Amino acid sequence: MKKSVTVVVPTYNESENISPLVGQIAKSISGYDYEILFVDDNSTDGTFEAIEALKGEYPVRAIVRRDEKGLASAVVKGFENARNDLIVVMDADLQHPPEIIPRLLDALEGGADLAVGSRYTPGGGCSEWSGLRKLISRGAIMLAGMALPKARKVKDPMSGFFALKRKVITGIRLDPIGYKILLEVLVLGKYNQVIEVPFQFQLREQGESKLNLNQQYEYLRHLLRLSIRSGEFARFVKFCLVGGSGVLVNMGLLWLLTEKAGLFYALSSVFAIETSIITNYLLNNFVTFKDRRVPGAKPFLINLAKFNLVSLGGLVINLGILSFFTEIIGFHYMVSNLIGIAGATMWNYFVNNWWTWKDSSL
Ligand code: GDD
Ligand code: MN
Repeated sequence: MKKSVTVVVPTYNESENISPLVGQIAKSISGYDYEILFVDDNSTDGTFEAIEALKGEYPVRAIVRRDEKGLASAVVKGFENARNDLIVVMDADLQHPPEIIPRLLDALEGGADLAVGSRYTPGGGCSEWSGLRKLISRGAIMLAGMALPKARKVKDPMSGFFALKRKVITGIRLDPIGYKILLEVLVLGKYNQVIEVPFQFQLREQGESKLNLNQQYEYLRHLLRLSIRSGEFARFVKFCLVGGSGVLVNMGLLWLLTEKAGLFYALSSVFAIETSIITNYLLNNFVTFKDRRVPGAKPFLINLAKFNLVSLGGLVINLGILSFFTEIIGFHYMVSNLIGIAGATMWNYFVNNWWTWKDSSL
C-alpha cells in the first residue's frame, strides 16, 4: 500500500509558480498518495485562482488566511490541516527542488523523525548568492546556535525545506514569528533522529522574495521568544545570578581572612577567588545546568577543572578589556571594568555551555 504524504506550501503572490511547482511535485512523488496543501495569505495576484484551476488534474487544496500573515505561521496552519502523518514543507517559488522530496521521505522511512533539506552539508549550496547574503545567513545560524543549543542539531536550521512525522509536533503549541518555521520545530518538537539531505537552493525565476529588513528584526524577536520558551533564557539569568553570588562570597571571604584571620590581603584574595569559583561551580552544577549534570565523582572533578580553566580565561578577558578601554579609549577604569565583566560573563557562559556542561544529545 502506498504511504500518504501532505506537502504544505505557504504562498504569497506566487501565481506564476503554482502550475510548474505542482507538476514537478506530482512527478517526484508519484510513489506516494499525496495532497498538496497551499496556505495562502490572501494573495493579490491570483495565486488562489491558479491553485483552484489545477483541482481537476491534481490533488491540490488551498486554505486562504485573511486575518493573519507570515510564512512560519502559515506553515503551522498547514500542519493543523494536513490529512496525513508524513508532512513535507517547501516554498512555492521552485527554489526548493521537488526532486529532493523522495530523499526526505526516504530518510523518514529509514527511521528519522525529521529530515532537513540542507544547504550547508556537503553537496548542498546556494546558487549564486552574494557574499553578503551568505555572510548574513551564516551569522544568523551562529546566533541561533548560541541562543538555542537545539539549533545546533543541524547545519542548516534556517532551511524552509524539510519533512517530518506528525508525532514530532503533536501536542506542541507552535507559535513562530516571521520566517523560520524549522527553528520552531527543532527547539520545541519531539524527535530522536534528524537527518540532513543536501540540496542546491535554486535561483528564483518568477515573482519576488518577501524577505526584507523587517524579517531580520522578526528573526531576532523569534529567537528571543524561543529562548524564553525553551528555558535557555532562564538558564542565562541563573548563570548571571550565580556569578553575582560569587562576587559576594569573594568579597566576604577577602574581608574575613584579612580582618579576622590576619592574612595579608593578597593572600586572602587567592583563597577568596578560588572559593568563589568553587561555590559558583556547585551552584551551576546543581541549578543552572542541572539537566546536563553527569553523575559520579570523576565527571564532577573533571568539570570542576574545566570550570576553573574557563574562569581563568574569563579573568584574562576581563583584564584585557579593562586595560584596553582605560588605556586606549580613555574610559574611566570603573566603566571599563563593567564592560570587562560583561565580556567575561559572555565568555564564561558560552564556553561552559558548550564545553563544561555540553548538551550530550548534540
Ligand atoms: N502564506 C504566506 N504568508 N506565505 C509566505 C509569506 C507570508 O507572509 N511570505 C512568504 N511566503 C511564501 C512565499 O510565497 C514562498 O512560497 C515561500 O514562503 C518563501 O518565501 P520567499 O520570500 O521566497 O523567501 P526566501 O526565498 O527569501 O527565503 C526562503 O529561504 C530561506 C533560506 O535562505 C525561505 O524558505 C526561508 O524560510 C528560508 O530561511
Ligand atoms: Mn524564495
